[in-house]
Amino acid sequence: MGEESVLVTGGGSGMGQLASRQLANAGYNVAAVDVNEKGLLETAEGFQNIRTFQTDVTSYEDVLKVVAETEEKLGPIRKVYNAAAIMPLGKIEDQEADVFRRVMDINYTGVVNVTKATLPGLIERNEGEIINFASIAGWLPTIYMAAYDASKFAVVAFTEVLYHENLNNNIKVVCVCPPPVKTPLLQQARDTVWPKVFDQGDHIEAEDVLRCINDTLESGELFAFPGKQTKMVWRMRRWLPGMLWKNVHKSEGL
Ligand SMILES: NC(=O)c1ccc[n+]([C@@H]2O[C@H](COP(=O)([O-])OP(=O)(O)OC[C@H]3O[C@@H](n4cnc5c(N)ncnc54)[C@H](O)[C@@H]3O)[C@@H](O)[C@H]2O)c1
Repeated sequence: MGEESVLVTGGGSGMGQLASRQLANAGYNVAAVDVNEKGLLETAEGFQNIRTFQTDVTSYEDVLKVVAETEEKLGPIRKVYNAAAIMPLGKIEDQEADVFRRVMDINYTGVVNVTKATLPGLIERNEGEIINFASIAGWLPTIYMAAYDASKFAVVAFTEVLYHENLNNNIKVVCVCPPPVKTPLLQQARDTVWPKVFDQGDHIEAEDVLRCINDTLESGELFAFPGKQTKMVWRMRRWLPGMLWKNVHKSEGL
């Protein structure tokens, strides 16, 4: 078992689960944080160096406790993966105001809470990595996704500032912006509204995203765009937003 630890939110499913297991295999002590108890049990199965915390990232107090316990029992935190999120979709007129609040609270404030709770330790040791999961939805808004898109735009902005504030520290910051990935998150869209634009382009694997994060950590860049077409879509959003909206309206028939 290594002397250093990593903290992964959303560690009970999808990319957070895979990251937890990969990092445990690499010898880190892993603190896997999630509200999903069953998922956490799955994550830790067969690993003595994964400790699970059934904790809601929206509570700063609870996050502080997890960070203190991790550093005390598992070693100083070397890497932070902020992957917890939810994605209920729907037209603005159909989604409850509470859903907007909840999405922002988990997807954005959760990232802020965990970053704030871990950053002082990383700065003190002048070493570490923070990986924040945004999405291509953090650049490219689309119909039915106002709540989720806004939360991911917020993660992009927050992480860009975090990167620049720590450029002179030995702390690497990555903002990962994947296209649709084959994980349980997509089921939340199926259970609410499935945007037709999700059927355009490939859905990538969780492994592809984690590989792209590692490449980006190596290159020292801020943004990671996994998937073959993601960077092109990002460029199109910058230069031809009207064309992308035309596509959305055409495919949704709105
Ligand atoms: N799957 C995709 O298509 C996709 C695409 C782009 C970006 N992302 C982002 O990647 C990250 C990982 O997503 P995933 O696809 O692995 O999702 P996932 O649904 O498989 O896992 C997310 C986990 O977050 C947990 N979670 C939700 N609310 C929480 C809370 N309040 N506190 C703690 N944990 C909580 C869930 O229980 C779940 O286990 C997310 O930030 C997501 O927005 C996903």
